[in-house]
Amino acid sequence: CGIVGYIGPKKASEILIDGLAKLEYRGYDSAGIAMLENGKVIMEKKEGRLSKLADIVKSKYDANIGIGHTRWATHGKPSDENSHPHFDCSKKIAVVHNGIIENFHQLKEELKEDGHQFDSETDTEVIPHLIEEYYNGDMLEALQKTIKRLDGSYALVVINQDKPEEIFCARKDSPLVIGVGQGENFVASDIPAIIQHTKETIILDDGEIAKITKDAVEIMDLPGNNVEKEILKVDWDADSAEKEGFDHFMLKEIYEQPTALRNTLKDKFESDKVNLPDLNIDSEYLKGVNKIAIVACGTAWHAGLVGKHLFETLLRIPVEIDIASEFRYRNPLVDEKTLVIVVSQSGETADTLAAMRDSQKKGAKVLAVTNNKGSSIARESEFIFHTIAGPEIAVASTKAYTTQLMGFYLITLYFGQLLGKEMPKELYDGLKEIPVLADKVLQNTKDQLDKITAPFDGWDNSFFIGRGMDWYVSQEGSLKLKEISYIHAEAYAAGELKHGTLALIEQDIPVVAVATQQDIYDKTVSNIKEVKARGGYVIAVVQEGDEDISHSVDEVIKIPKVPSLLTPILSVIPLQLLSYKEAVKRGQDVDKPRNLAKSVTVE
Ligand code: G6P
Repeated sequence: CGIVGYIGPKKASEILIDGLAKLEYRGYDSAGIAMLENGKVIMEKKEGRLSKLADIVKSKYDANIGIGHTRWATHGKPSDENSHPHFDCSKKIAVVHNGIIENFHQLKEELKEDGHQFDSETDTEVIPHLIEEYYNGDMLEALQKTIKRLDGSYALVVINQDKPEEIFCARKDSPLVIGVGQGENFVASDIPAIIQHTKETIILDDGEIAKITKDAVEIMDLPGNNVEKEILKVDWDADSAEKEGFDHFMLKEIYEQPTALRNTLKDKFESDKVNLPDLNIDSEYLKGVNKIAIVACGTAWHAGLVGKHLFETLLRIPVEIDIASEFRYRNPLVDEKTLVIVVSQSGETADTLAAMRDSQKKGAKVLAVTNNKGSSIARESEFIFHTIAGPEIAVASTKAYTTQLMGFYLITLYFGQLLGKEMPKELYDGLKEIPVLADKVLQNTKDQLDKITAPFDGWDNSFFIGRGMDWYVSQEGSLKLKEISYIHAEAYAAGELKHGTLALIEQDIPVVAVATQQDIYDKTVSNIKEVKARGGYVIAVVQEGDEDISHSVDEVIKIPKVPSLLTPILSVIPLQLLSYKEAVKRGQDVDKPRNLAKSVTVE
């Protein structure tokens, strides 16, 4: 979900709606705002997209203080009642909240017994009622007492009719950032909501409470002691969070990949060797590592699959890879000799963050591959590799994935050097070429899109197959198609198809086959033939120079010739474009697919 708050001389409604529009990628089941106008808290909320709310509040209010929320439903279906903000009984206290209050049932029962009445099914609603219960003229004290009662995660922002010049907020395990302006201040769950107003930010840490007026920001710890905080300057512009003439953020982000890759590579080579001084890892520590555990969710997990392959192939260090929500509950074998690598675009994914903290408790050090330097994951990890993809707004991840892959290549080569291993020269040379080649793939594929999406017409099922690196990319390709076009796409290891899934191949069903790996190429082609023999319509992704494949498949997409280990960054691009085109053809909401959210800060 997305949060934004404002206090200052301007019209709060406009700033809140604009800010929420920038955060819609965080959730878009419903939206709402609460503001203080003429001494009263007024609230407007609406199920559905933000535009519905914007139509209602546009130029209706003059308030100069308010809070807003765009929701991704967890407790309670999307509805007007369940939308945030939520009120207490007196309708004086309004709260927006991200996260989950795990003990809300118990708190709700207790509050009901004390006479509180509830309007929604949400966990959040207990918060304003608790504040009401504890409020005795001192908001800080009421908030402290409330927070002590909450189990779970929260980023919460509160206004109170009795304190018309103040906004209060608090966080635990869900991000909040304060934007510091001139005679005005902001608070938001993510920077894009406020960057057009200020680049000066304060990141709230777990256990901190903030009191924000138009001229000051005071931060306190839970017992109420003042905390000195650093002001961090955001190093990207409001423009990077705009569509800039593209129909969708996703398309813009696909096309930004050459630049994002170039930026991630920049300054990482020194005399033809990889140099990652910012990683801050020394060879003594690394020599003591006997296992790497990669942990992530979604697309970031797919990047991790490639990472595992690289580490094991080139460094011969055993690597485990887990989905974060599995890792945290399987009591993994992690100790001080394990290097845990967490991959997260946002750096705030709740499961990944929790997996990281559990690993640290077991003595492991954590390397974070993240796109957000100010995130919880970045700040709490021992080592960081920062992907320089810029803000990624579309829910379906593209440039974050390819820059995460770039991160894994650089880290592998650097680790190899630190461990005194000979790394293949062709990888160093090839890596430097990747941004240019990514651009070439974009140019070459764009004219083929009608042809390669035509086989999907009328189908709600499809397959993606490959072996090794190609299988990892197939998994990412199938996820893209599922996320935005809603076509079911099963990714399968090509060699495993015959052990069951082949039964689902029928006449003309679309099958995307990625076959770029030279050492196992013939094996993959045999699997493609098995599919063809059962009537599948095969679209193959291969390397340039492969002239034979056209005899075995229906459509061919070619990527430039590079060493097999380097193909994933290039072979995923046609799959991203294919999914995008298919989703547009089907009239789907590409940037905001149903039921999904960009940053999942709940378990
Ligand atoms: C959500 C997004 C995915 C993303 C995943 C992990 O599900 O929709 O695109 O891959 O979270 O996000 P992270 O920020 O940790 O990379």
